[in-house]
Amino acid sequence: MVNLLPLVLALGATAAVARPSAGRLAPRQSSCSLTWNGSTISGTPDGPDGVCRYTIRYGTAARWANAAAATSAGNPLTSATQSEDCLYITLYVPVDATSTDRQPILAWLHGGAYSYGSDSAAGFDGAGLAANGGIIVAAIQYRLGVLGNLPPSVAPLASDPNFALRDVILALDTLRARELDFHGDKDLLSLGGQDSGASIIRALWGVPAAVDKFSSMILQSDPLSYGFASAATTTSLRSLFASQPSLSGLTLSTFANWQALSLSTLLTAQGDLLASASASIAGLPLTGALRPTWGTTTLPHDPTRSLFNTPSELEIDPTAVRLLITNTKNEAGGLAQYIWPESVTLNSTRYNGVLSALLGSSRATTLQASGSTYALPTSGSGDLMRSTLEKTITDGAWRCPARTLAQAYAAAGGTVFVGEFTKGVTYPTNSIGSTSYCTGSVVCHTDDIYPTFGSSPSPSSATITLQNEISAAWTDFINELTPSGWTAFTSTSGLSGTNVKGIGGGSVGSCPSSYWGSTVQWDWQIYTT
Ligand SMILES: *[C@@H]1O[C@H](CO)[C@@H](O)[C@H](O)[C@H]1NC(C)=O
Ligand SMILES: *[C@@H]1O[C@H](CO)[C@@H](O)[C@H](O)[C@H]1NC(C)=O
Repeated sequence: MVNLLPLVLALGATAAVARPSAGRLAPRQSSCSLTWNGSTISGTPDGPDGVCRYTIRYGTAARWANAAAATSAGNPLTSATQSEDCLYITLYVPVDATSTDRQPILAWLHGGAYSYGSDSAAGFDGAGLAANGGIIVAAIQYRLGVLGNLPPSVAPLASDPNFALRDVILALDTLRARELDFHGDKDLLSLGGQDSGASIIRALWGVPAAVDKFSSMILQSDPLSYGFASAATTTSLRSLFASQPSLSGLTLSTFANWQALSLSTLLTAQGDLLASASASIAGLPLTGALRPTWGTTTLPHDPTRSLFNTPSELEIDPTAVRLLITNTKNEAGGLAQYIWPESVTLNSTRYNGVLSALLGSSRATTLQASGSTYALPTSGSGDLMRSTLEKTITDGAWRCPARTLAQAYAAAGGTVFVGEFTKGVTYPTNSIGSTSYCTGSVVCHTDDIYPTFGSSPSPSSATITLQNEISAAWTDFINELTPSGWTAFTSTSGLSGTNVKGIGGGSVGSCPSSYWGSTVQWDWQIYTT
């Protein structure tokens, strides 16, 4: 079994739970302030184009208890520090916003496999997108890892462990209630996210408390092969967590015992759990083992399965919530370069071992019998090991399910757009030096972050063009317009790439018809309980 923990780190992980940092300082405005629920909040001028950044506490929560709305806006730290006190929203407000000039809101959920990441991770400065698009960016933090998803069995809410989902709902309620305080327009509130942040939005399709709280969604690089955890899977994870060596010998018979544990003890046990869980529990995502649990009051059904099988089970109404879904051209390039840090000679024994570890031997065998589509070539030179693995996992976990899901969303009455990033900016964790796979025209997972936020360091003119293309399209979409040059995907749009917008220009990858989801099934189809 491949140890995937370093992969999690390679996919953009930073602090487990972080307070937002003050970020970079590029003052243009002499002062930033707004009135939040009657109190004056000071902000920081951010970016070259005059955007004010405010960090606001939206909730307070005891460990593994539901969060309560914050009664004061808080006093955020000025550096990224790990803390369980993490329920903050960072607002990026274009300074020309006035009380009569309300602007659309993009509420953003960062990724990091549900267990890592923060709003102060590299590239997540929303000032460029806010200025470029004339929108308010509201970056929401939520509880991560075991703290957000896996209370112990003695916790009062053990049977409905979805603290992360409920944190996001509280943050949305706060933004909606306070819209006038920051010149936002809650009727044009889009929810966007990348990686597990996008998966959380997909989970909200099945959350009764999420209904009518947002009008559109932007899902970037959601690993769509994976559904959410069944209650049985969560029970197995909980037992495995409690048996971690760093917790052994401790008295943990009461909830109070668990609440008194130090954060570092919990995070050590969490790290050990994530490193070993996929070897002992079937059907866990590559890197996102600690995820929302369905079959609960918060999330009654797995919404992925509902969309395809029983759309009437969905809590949100697809006809009322527009969807924009994207993948990068080479999502799994970071995985391929983690497994083989440099180009290696063709070796089918080695290749099959990796594919079986990632997908199980049955699917690996089927893929190896697929001929030129996904089988490792028997001869040839160059980077064929990495490029074949990358294409297989990119198609199977991201590109092809995105298109099939878009068909299903359109069939349920929804308006949906599909894009593929054909260009990007290499994210720091994807850059491993002269043998990098994720360089040049290869656009790996998280290489969409800098251009989406308009935060690329020292951008070239081509990157500025890309950033402008994205902010224009995202803003049109949030404003309930069709992004210029995009065509809505329909229930009969094919999988070849017609009606998929190449973000950055050029052609997009193609998916075989009737293959993924049928000949080779997705995880959510295989692991149903
Ligand atoms: C708003 O302010 C009032 C008065 O200070 C306070 O009682 C209330 O808890 C605040 N509400 C929120 C959601 O911050
Ligand atoms: C191919 O990989 C296997 C398993 O990693 C290894 O044992 C074998 O020596 C490799 N063969 C060649 C020719 O490199």
